[in-house]
Amino acid sequence: MQAMDLLGMYPTFYVPGIGTGWVMGIIGVIHVVASHTSVGASFLFALIETRAYRRNEPQLMDFIKRYGLFLLIFSYVIGSITGPGIWYSITVASPRGVGGLIHNFVWVWAAEWVFFTVEVIGVYALVYLIGKVDARTHLKITWSFALASWTTMLLIVGILSFMMGPGSAAWYRTGSASDAFFSSNCFAQLGVRTGLMFVMASVVGLIVASRLPDADTRRGMVRFLALVGLAGGLFMALMSLFYVRTLPHNAIVLLDFRLLPDYARDLAAVLAVAALWLVFAWCRPDRVYTSLAVALFAFVAVAGVWPEERMRESMRKPYVAGRYIYGDQVIARDVPGKGIKEEVDRIARDGLLTLHPFVPDRLRTINDGNLLEAGQLLAKMACASCHALEPGAPLRDLPDEFHRATDEDLIAAYLRGPLRHGTQPYMPRIDLPEDEIRALAHYLAVDDSGRDVDRLIAQERRHALLARGKE
Ligand code: HEC
Repeated sequence: MQAMDLLGMYPTFYVPGIGTGWVMGIIGVIHVVASHTSVGASFLFALIETRAYRRNEPQLMDFIKRYGLFLLIFSYVIGSITGPGIWYSITVASPRGVGGLIHNFVWVWAAEWVFFTVEVIGVYALVYLIGKVDARTHLKITWSFALASWTTMLLIVGILSFMMGPGSAAWYRTGSASDAFFSSNCFAQLGVRTGLMFVMASVVGLIVASRLPDADTRRGMVRFLALVGLAGGLFMALMSLFYVRTLPHNAIVLLDFRLLPDYARDLAAVLAVAALWLVFAWCRPDRVYTSLAVALFAFVAVAGVWPEERMRESMRKPYVAGRYIYGDQVIARDVPGKGIKEEVDRIARDGLLTLHPFVPDRLRTINDGNLLEAGQLLAKMACASCHALEPGAPLRDLPDEFHRATDEDLIAAYLRGPLRHGTQPYMPRIDLPEDEIRALAHYLAVDDSGRDVDRLIAQERRHALLARGKE
């Protein structure tokens, strides 16, 4: 086969046990917590400092200094580790998804990087120049820090929204960055995140405020943070309603039938606990102890942000970006504006094992000696971006999706039916030739039984080698 005929695919990356998606998810959620706290706090600083300046209340600067220092360690160290961590993990897990984003938004990313640099310099300047430059200059630094922080968020949210879909359908024809960027989903998501950033900055701020030595300043700051958090939460809730209205059909299906039944109760509980905590802080500012504030922060971050981000990521299925790249990296439709061609039908005709460049030669054609191993590779290439393969693994594990079925024909019927015809709105159309369906069904049937697949594959290879030796 000519190199020209292969698909432009990258090697398949699979993390057993938890599933590749969860690796990105865990890193991403830590990053969201750190970054939203920082952007929210930058506005808190700007508001508090404006008040300190106007009313001549320099003691408020003590809180800004402490919180700023806390951010330097908490948000900036953690954010700077997890930020590149996201890049590394998405690049190996979804190389074409990342490629799609870069080919659309390289200048947006460059701009984001400039604002991020301003933000990082800003936070250092803010913390270390308190008392060293005049108050007015310092106030300007703080506002620049806040605006630069929020601009990085605006730019990243525009890029993230393209993952749900391009701003306008004209993009498929024009391929232009402005058609890709501005969508109502982008503004809705920006609204949700703006509310969330105030909630996070308030919840983390209470930890810092609880340690202020001066009782009056402490009370004042705790109450201010509680109000900001409640207002941010309300705004986030309203914007979430708007956000849901901007979603495409497949996302609504997934939300209604799969996600809300699982998550709605938990999310409502987290919101209620967070709201009660902030109301309590407002009523009893002297009872906001550091240990309590830390516990509530951890609760909101783990029980609130994790399901919220998980839902947003899940809803995009079957696509990973622009409603043209499927989660399994296959191109779903023609995009003339970028010279991109649909690939599903080519795979149906020639097979994934033939067209994918990173397939060992011994698995290019299926025979009795490699049925199981070829099936496993097909599952990794075609399913594992969205499904873990091990029974009981957290990322929609395939054995449980098949209700642990071990009947090859039954599984093959599913592959020939709903999957081939793309009838499930949350799954790609995956149309494989008959021999690949047989191999995949064979592997899934064994895998679903919970038997040790890797040992069976080793056995299969030994048999094949022996058989070849006899010839
Ligand atoms: C782009 C993501 C994606 C890919 C790739 C994918 N699936 Fe799915 N699949 C989903 C989602 C999302 C669900 C909904 C399950 C849930 O949320 O519990 C699902 C559900 C299922 C179900 C449950 C029955 C149903 O129709 O809802 C089965 C079985 C299944 N997938 C099999 C497969 C197989 C086999 C492959 C590979 C050939 C595959 N999937 C590839 C996303 C994907």
